[in-house]
Amino acid sequence: MSSPTPPLLNVPVLDQTVRHLYVHVPFCPSICPYCDFHVLTRKSGQVEAYLERLEQEAAWLASQYAVELDTVYLGGGTPSFLRDAEITALVGSIRRHLGWGRQENTLEINPGTVSPARATLWKGLGFDRASVGVQSLDDATLKFLGRQHDAAGAREAVTTLLGAGLRVSGDLITAVPGQPLDSDIHGLVALGVDHISAYTLTIEPGTEFARRGVTVAEDDERAGFERTEELLATHGFSRYEISNYARPGQESQHNLAYWNNRTYLGLGPGAAGQYPAVPGSKGQRVKGSEEEVSNGLSVEPSNRMPKADSGSLSHNPQPTTHNPLTTRRTNPHLHIWLTGDQGEAEAIDAEEYVTDALFMGLRLRTGIDLDDLSKRSGLDVRARYAGAIAANVERGWLELDGTWLRATPAGWWVLNRVVTDFLEA
Ligand SMILES: C[S@@+](CC[C@H](N)C(=O)[O-])C[C@H]1O[C@@H](n2cnc3c(N)ncnc32)[C@H](O)[C@@H]1O
Ligand code: SF4
Repeated sequence: MSSPTPPLLNVPVLDQTVRHLYVHVPFCPSICPYCDFHVLTRKSGQVEAYLERLEQEAAWLASQYAVELDTVYLGGGTPSFLRDAEITALVGSIRRHLGWGRQENTLEINPGTVSPARATLWKGLGFDRASVGVQSLDDATLKFLGRQHDAAGAREAVTTLLGAGLRVSGDLITAVPGQPLDSDIHGLVALGVDHISAYTLTIEPGTEFARRGVTVAEDDERAGFERTEELLATHGFSRYEISNYARPGQESQHNLAYWNNRTYLGLGPGAAGQYPAVPGSKGQRVKGSEEEVSNGLSVEPSNRMPKADSGSLSHNPQPTTHNPLTTRRTNPHLHIWLTGDQGEAEAIDAEEYVTDALFMGLRLRTGIDLDDLSKRSGLDVRARYAGAIAANVERGWLELDGTWLRATPAGWWVLNRVVTDFLEA
């Protein structure tokens, strides 16, 4: 149960300017059998309607919030699947209404969509970073994953993007039955990427893999979790987040904003955003946190791909004790979003803000600065969660280093379980 009067330090100090933008492009050349993001193959007229609505939504966001972008991330789906004129129009809409990232601008790319001319176009539009769905460099594994490209195609795509002057991150899927993980990792590093996201194959309900009864062996999962770090360390990559590895200075600034629980704009169907809780901001319907939602946490390993449309953690019903610190909103899927429906905004109070921040921040190698979190939320985090911190330090799942709270490697493996203690505190 939540304590009825959580100790408040003072007035929360949250940045009221939004500095990060996520744009969801739902279209894909084909739908992979493991994927449960909001994805669609394109149908006639759909992309035009999407671009038109996107322009309106960008204008609306600009009218509601103070925006000075540090990072932009075009994800999906497959943004690189948009035709040249379409992606040019999309970037134009963003720039017109919201500006462009001063620090980092990432485009998600499917290897099958890359050509030297397109890589040059993307660079010219202002992207400086490519996140490429390599998944594996083994043809049998790629075939099993239902990918349209082979290993040679993935290699060529990465080489072309590097040649166009983009920084490149490669996505790997681990724990695929029969996958030669070591050669996948060595092969990806050898291509010259400076960042790797390695996700355990997750069988999501409703996907083709779930229908076929595909399963992932726990041994493969564990091996993927541990071996990936071991091998990448020998290549100078540091595991700075549960599923993410980078050479020094090459961490994803956009994703760091999520893990540090900063506010960000969500543009496009299925996109989630976290916004400053501007009192009286026009056009927002705010759903109180007393609304009943179930606790959706499960006790399972945590190096899974977070979904593009994943909002805050689901919480047990709690009384609202403070004014909202932020609001969260997840846009509806394409057909509804095209009608102008923006979905409901959910008020996030100090307690929910803190447990979300812990859930995200404990994914980071550095962990989370509890004093900074106390300042941002106005809640005395150490006092409020003293019991949950002590119990998990005792179990060897968390360590407290000065003001920093971080998960140990054993704690990373059971992070959802650790966070459940904070939710129930
Ligand atoms: C939006 S996709 C990347 C860009 C592009 N759509 C592509 O697939 O090439 C994001 C990444 O999520 C990961 N992913 C998606 N579903 C997954 C699942 N069920 N299990 C593990 N990883 C998954 C894949 O590594 C994929 O590259
Ligand atoms: S993995 Fe990428 S290409 Fe495949 S369906 Fe999902 S978003 Fe589309």
